[in-house]
Amino acid sequence: MNKMIDLRSDTVTKPSQEMRKAMLNAEVGDDVYKEDPTVNKLEEYAADLLGKEDALFVPSGLMGNQICLNVLTNPGDEVICHKDAHIFIYESGSPAALSGIQLFPVAGERGIISPELVEEVIRPESAYYMPRTKVIEVENTHNRAGGTIHPIENIKKLRELGQRHNLYNHLDGARIWNASVATGISVSEYASHFDSISCCLSKGLGAPIGSIIAGERDFIKEAYRIRKAWGGGMRQVGIIAAAGLFALQYNFRRLEEDHQKAKMFADKLANSGKIEIDIKSVETNIIMFRPKTLKVEELLKKCLEDGVMLSTGSVGMVRVVTHMDVSFDEIEKAAEIVLKNLG
Ligand SMILES: Cc1ncc(COP(=O)(O)O)c(C=O)c1O
Repeated sequence: MNKMIDLRSDTVTKPSQEMRKAMLNAEVGDDVYKEDPTVNKLEEYAADLLGKEDALFVPSGLMGNQICLNVLTNPGDEVICHKDAHIFIYESGSPAALSGIQLFPVAGERGIISPELVEEVIRPESAYYMPRTKVIEVENTHNRAGGTIHPIENIKKLRELGQRHNLYNHLDGARIWNASVATGISVSEYASHFDSISCCLSKGLGAPIGSIIAGERDFIKEAYRIRKAWGGGMRQVGIIAAAGLFALQYNFRRLEEDHQKAKMFADKLANSGKIEIDIKSVETNIIMFRPKTLKVEELLKKCLEDGVMLSTGSVGMVRVVTHMDVSFDEIEKAAEIVLKNLG
């Protein structure tokens, strides 16, 4: 049987032989005692790369975001984010459940929130009967919008706004690596406009597990307490931190290739007249399109029968994600299968 071409997500990548070798050879210790040399090395490496004082290894992107929000807020506080933000749509209501905070989602094209709109919804300091606005959150690249890049000029304005109103700025940088590779703007330049950042090792970078949060030393000290309180204190996890370190060292720059694959796939479909697509929004490794000839579920079913796995985006949209475990040839083949099934 032919191998399935899995384009549902960049989280489906499997550790390469080289990555597995790094895991096998990792020096380990008890990380709850801060004695795992590989975890310590990963945290130092990531802090340096992100230009922050300190960093912390956490099991998932969700936990990374939620620890950051917990440290930056008190119960009853409010976080402003985009209406399609991962923290709003896909994190199981955990801002409320874990931190007793609420989100204020605002609209914006391609996941971009305008400083003017954000300023309008910041609660006045004098309004003691309203929640207290505490954080402005940005997601870069933006998952649900289709891997779109938040422009650096807008990020700077949101930072200035945050500082003027005494708010924190948090970055959900699950795919900040993709934004950096696509724009040439370093991850440390992006991170410099935020108090806290959470970024994933287990998406396009290809590690099997793990995220990094980064910020000032005191922030990470508090984050370390919360990670433990939420059951995220881990022991000899150098074995997985080694994969994360390998991912940062060897799989970061190659993301450019995933972006080329996404463009190739989108271009092949765009001229068919059988889909609607905003081709300019294909900026990194995610493609969103609306099939014109049949329902999303039908297309997904037919493609699956032909060995191509796709997923759903927002209502009526198909989501395709390129990654290191699919070759250019497979991308071409997948595009042909999708076109055939579009009729
Ligand atoms: C933008 C964004 N933030 C956070 C996450 C959460 O990451 P995890 O699945 O590791 O919890 C994801 C996962 O897809 C994501 O796309």
